[in-house]
Amino acid sequence: MEPVKVGIIGLGFMGTTHLAIHRSNPKSRVVAVADIDSDKRAGDIRKVVGNIGGGRNDRIDLTGIRVYENAAALLADPEVEEVDICLPTYLHADVAIAALRAGKHVLLEKPVALDYEQAAAIVAAARESDRCFTVGLCVRAWPEYRRAFEEVAAGRLGKIRSAFFKRFSPNVDGNGWQNWYMKDELSGGALLDLHMHDIDEVLYFCGRPKAVSSVGTTYKTGIYDHVFTLYHFDAETPAVCAEGGWSAAKTAPFEMSFQLIGEKATIISGPTGMFLYHVDGAVEKVEFEAGSMPTGWHVEIDHFLDAVRGRADIRKFLPLQDILDGMAIYEAERRSLGEGGVAVTVDYR
Ligand SMILES: NC(=O)c1ccc[n+]([C@@H]2O[C@H](COP(=O)([O-])OP(=O)(O)OC[C@H]3O[C@@H](n4cnc5c(N)ncnc54)[C@H](O)[C@@H]3O)[C@@H](O)[C@H]2O)c1
Repeated sequence: MEPVKVGIIGLGFMGTTHLAIHRSNPKSRVVAVADIDSDKRAGDIRKVVGNIGGGRNDRIDLTGIRVYENAAALLADPEVEEVDICLPTYLHADVAIAALRAGKHVLLEKPVALDYEQAAAIVAAARESDRCFTVGLCVRAWPEYRRAFEEVAAGRLGKIRSAFFKRFSPNVDGNGWQNWYMKDELSGGALLDLHMHDIDEVLYFCGRPKAVSSVGTTYKTGIYDHVFTLYHFDAETPAVCAEGGWSAAKTAPFEMSFQLIGEKATIISGPTGMFLYHVDGAVEKVEFEAGSMPTGWHVEIDHFLDAVRGRADIRKFLPLQDILDGMAIYEAERRSLGEGGVAVTVDYR
C-alpha cells in the first residue's frame, strides 16, 4: 500500500515512541514533526523520560523530515495526511480539533482530554469530519489483553463473575515537559492520566458500570496519584475492581496485570505470563503472538494506518461513544474521591 504521510506533534516520550514505530512500519512515512523545544527539534532527546519501555537513544535522526516549531505550522503542511498528537493532555482539545478541521486523519494520544466537555468537543469535530480519528487507548490493542478478550468472546471462561485490573507505575515526578504530569489542571493526575487505561479495560471487558466508588491518595502537589475503584453493575453482571497509580517509589517496577474469573475458567495475566485455569483442573499457559507487533502501540498504529487507507474500520476498534463513556466514568470517580468514596452514578451522555 502507498505509505501514509505522517506528522508527529510533540517529540517527548510518546512522540519519540510513535516515531520509532512508524519508522519500523513500511505502511508509514514520517514527513514532519513539531515541538516547542529546540533541543528536541535538533534531535537531542536526553530530557525525555517515560514510565514504561526503556532502552531509548539520546538522539533521534530527523534527516529528511520537515521540523516545525508548533502544531499550527505542521497542520498547514499539505503533504501531511495523518497527525499523531503526542502533546501533554492540556493541549489535546485545541490541537485535535484544529487538525480535524485542517482535513488530517488524527491519532490522538490518551487521555482524550482533561474533561468531558473538551472530549465532547473533540468527538463532535471527529463526527463532522470524514477523516479517521482515534484515541491511543492502547491497552485494547495490547497482545495479552486482546488474547484474553478473544478467550472471553469465544465463551471459554463462561459468564464472567468478577474482574480486577491493575496498572502500577513508578512515580513520574520529574518526567515530562516542564513536569506537567504533576499538575492536576494539566494532566488530571494518575486518576486521569494512568487510570484511564483501567477505565477503558472495564468498558472493554465488562461494559458500562452504573456507578463507581473510589478511594485514593494524593501527592504533595495535590494530584490524585493512586486510585482504587469499585465498579457497580446490576446484580446479573460482575463484581469489578481496578487499581491504578504512580504513587510507588521510582525504583518500583511497572506492572499491568489483570484477572477475569468466569464460571468455567479463570484468566490471570501478570509478570510471569498469562494462564487459563479451568474449573475441571486443567491449567493452560496462554500464548499470545508478539512478533513484529510487540506492543499495543505497534498494533494500534498499524491498525490506524490501515484505516487511513480504507482497509480497517477504526471506529469499530474503539467506538467514539466509548471515548465519551470513559470520560463520564472518570468524572464520576473524581466526584466519589472528593466525597469520601461514596457511590456516584455515572452520567452517560
Ligand atoms: N498510550 C500510552 O501508553 C501513553 C504513555 C505515556 C503518555 N501518554 C500520553 O501521551 C501524551 C504525551 O505524553 P509524554 O509522556 O510523551 O509527554 P512529554 O512531556 O514527554 O512530551 C510532550 C512533548 O510535547 C512538547 N510540547 C509541549 N508543549 C508544546 C507545544 N505547545 N507545542 C509543541 N510541542 C509542545 C514537549 O517539548 C515534549 O517534547 C500525554 O497525553 C500522555 O498522557 C500515553
